[in-house]
Amino acid sequence: MRTSISRIEPSALFFVQKKRYYFFMIKILAIETSCDETAIAVLEIKKTREGEKFSILSNQIASQVKIHAPFGGVVPNLAKREHIKNLPILLKKALAESRIKNKELRSKIQAIAVTYGPGLEPALWTGINFAENLAKKWRVPLVPVNHLEGHVYSAFMHNSKFLIPNSKIFPLLTLIVSGGHTELLLSKKHLDYKILGETLDDAAGEAFDKVARMLKLSYPGGPEISKLAKLGNAGAINFPRPMIHSKDLNFSFSGLKTSVLYKIRELGKINKNKKADIAASFEEAAVDVLVRKTKKAAEQYKPHTITLGGGVAANDRLRGELRKKFPNILLPEKRFTGDNAAMIAVAGYYRFLKKKFNSNPKATGNLKLSKN
Ligand code: KG4
Ligand code: ZN
Repeated sequence: MRTSISRIEPSALFFVQKKRYYFFMIKILAIETSCDETAIAVLEIKKTREGEKFSILSNQIASQVKIHAPFGGVVPNLAKREHIKNLPILLKKALAESRIKNKELRSKIQAIAVTYGPGLEPALWTGINFAENLAKKWRVPLVPVNHLEGHVYSAFMHNSKFLIPNSKIFPLLTLIVSGGHTELLLSKKHLDYKILGETLDDAAGEAFDKVARMLKLSYPGGPEISKLAKLGNAGAINFPRPMIHSKDLNFSFSGLKTSVLYKIRELGKINKNKKADIAASFEEAAVDVLVRKTKKAAEQYKPHTITLGGGVAANDRLRGELRKKFPNILLPEKRFTGDNAAMIAVAGYYRFLKKKFNSNPKATGNLKLSKN
């Protein structure tokens, strides 16, 4: 059953008659449970002449890192159990921080956004079921959001209040680098994505995590490699840069990962300094490919705006090298690089405008971005 916008108009879309500061204002509650972070956020959005003014009223995240660490990766059923436990706690906190009382819910929250893919299906279902029940109880529309779409918008999120202007952001070129994805996307308008290139095997974050495991670093490996790399010499080992000269904009990280494995075997016993050199040289090779392909995409498509998103966007070498090539690039604040629900609310807002409601979305582990 789809919810019609006419049902939500009276409370959601009110105009300020005398002072036309904004055309309308809504509050969206967003839920994210695609992997190992349980997250709930409440955002207030004002549509103004210049664009959308977002205020993050609450951004709650419960990380499960410690629970999955002993297993060296995310265990789907454990993630599910933790999400079920965390969701009601985070909801309470998010509403309290947003100063929304229980009895006001129906008039204060106008839509619920929820991640429905890509990700671990048992984990996604917990968020969807929770969101579905809330939407029914509060009688507000449910807006399913693609997790990657959230990462696309994360680069625009500066401080707790930020503006996404009406014009001059498109064409938008986004490099998404997460644990499951490495994609170069081109958008000509909101919610419109053309995949220019993607990884043919491992995702960038996955390669960082696997190399970290080879070096016996703790989970999650990306941040550990990043820390260790700062102590090493990036020029110590010349690792391959797979597909760096290929004509297309695709990526491949599996060969690089295997080269690291062979190097570690060849070296036998490695001391801390050598470990740091391997981490730094691997990081440099991975970043080199990511930056080179982004440059190629930029030359080909001449975007107005370039952005970066996803967990690997926290990597300082990647941020630094991209900044050197594209001084105007929008980099997400580090607190928004990892999974969070605030970015889901931003993407959810644009879906809300397009009335992309669905009261019973289906968790879709391999959901793709496409034209909407
Ligand atoms: O976006 P994200 O939080 O979750 C997914 O949607 O996958 O990305 C997680 C990935 C992990 O592979 C993690 O190791 C990596 O991002 N990561 C990093 C850094 N911080 C997180 N990789 C490299 N350098 C970092 N500083
Ligand atoms: Zn993510």
